[in-house]
Amino acid sequence: MNERPAREVDAESLREPPGPRADLRSDGRAALEWAASYLERVGDLPVLARVAPGEIRARLPAEAPEEGEPFAAVLRDLDEILLPGVTHWQHPRFFAYFSVSASEPGILAELLAATLNSIAILWRTAPAATELEGVVLDWTAKLLGLPDGWHGHIEDSASTSTVAAMMAAREATGRNLVVCSDQAHSSVAKGARMLGMELRRVAADPELRMRVDELGDLSGAAAVVATVGTTGSASVDPVPAIADACRAAGAWLHVDAAYAGSAMVCPELRWAFAGVERADSLVVNPHKWLLTPMDCSLLWTRRPEDLRAAFSLVPEYLRTPDAEDALSLSEYGPALGRRFRALKLWAVLRCHGRRGLQEHIRRGLALAETFERWVAEEPGWELCAPRHFSLVCLRMEGGDDRNRELLARVNASGEAFLSHAVLNERFVLRMAIGQASTTEQDVRRAWDALRREGAALAG
Ligand SMILES: Cc1ncc(COP(=O)(O)O)c(C=O)c1O
Repeated sequence: MNERPAREVDAESLREPPGPRADLRSDGRAALEWAASYLERVGDLPVLARVAPGEIRARLPAEAPEEGEPFAAVLRDLDEILLPGVTHWQHPRFFAYFSVSASEPGILAELLAATLNSIAILWRTAPAATELEGVVLDWTAKLLGLPDGWHGHIEDSASTSTVAAMMAAREATGRNLVVCSDQAHSSVAKGARMLGMELRRVAADPELRMRVDELGDLSGAAAVVATVGTTGSASVDPVPAIADACRAAGAWLHVDAAYAGSAMVCPELRWAFAGVERADSLVVNPHKWLLTPMDCSLLWTRRPEDLRAAFSLVPEYLRTPDAEDALSLSEYGPALGRRFRALKLWAVLRCHGRRGLQEHIRRGLALAETFERWVAEEPGWELCAPRHFSLVCLRMEGGDDRNRELLARVNASGEAFLSHAVLNERFVLRMAIGQASTTEQDVRRAWDALRREGAALAG
């Protein structure tokens, strides 16, 4: 501490900016070539990384280099050191969690957003980013058939969007209780913990929907969180009845449609979202099923003033003369510095268009339907939950341990990557279809791997 720098800065060198540490044209071409060829070959790689914990770290130097290295060295180590430690979320046989394709327009827009490095702490620090965010949220609301006039902004994740909604609900109601079903995503419980709010879980029915008759007295509830497309089985809570109960009790209704919300782009799927138009807030993640790179979580509310009352805290150094007329989205959520996420969503909406987005959702659904049929027709296998979207829950005959072992074997094969849930107290496999590049052949390969490993286990 307090030591003088070893070398003084040469006064001459201050007259010019330092040279770039990577050449955007030549290194950029190489990086783009890397990205393009990765997406072409990712389907040939094992989906799940085949490394032990600590293995990648052990291959990396303990310290940053003293002298700058060429960018080519970064690309080389990406290939040689990091790639073996990548689980390929862009793989056509990535069927775990929820599908998350980052499509090309979004990838390129991320490069441009990083280039601009526009940081929307206030309207004046990023007028274009702020206003484009409003526009793409309005566009998306129209594409999804949401009511006119909702205020929307982008958060990093549904976890943040939900915690923001819960905080606004507490602010608006002066109450401290959050109610959700036992199928709600863990982000609701985590949000309640972060905010010091009490959580009450309501039982789900055998089809994994919140039981409205179990909602109980909501007079002390700040918010009820309903889910359209739960994480475990993509079940759909009865939102209209939950909205009635919220209205009667003066509770805030937050709808978590993080995964399934993108399906509203298809009018024939909007039945599943009945009642969502009565929500006080709604979260949909285009980074899950709408071809947008992580991170892009859309939070709409019909009550922006409550969100603002919960979050607005403008210190002196951020007070500006234009504040009266200009919207600063940092007043509607936890983060001050907000990145230019709207650019990638804008690129995705423009380059795919409504029709392209609809085709993407319908394709995922059609593949899920096909897979569901194969499972239904196969002796010794069962479907474990009603399928509404592109998630199929299944298991083979035998107990939980056999199915756990089956999942481990298929994932270790590298052929496909699935995840699991416990539904109605049984261990089930989740096959979440919906990657942009998945073909029927990919779904077939996963099914073949499941049956092959299943047969080996059954002896
Ligand atoms: C229904 C639902 N809500 C919320 C989340 C959390 O999403 P995020 O990772 O954006 O916080 C998930 C994650 O899969 C989810 O399935």
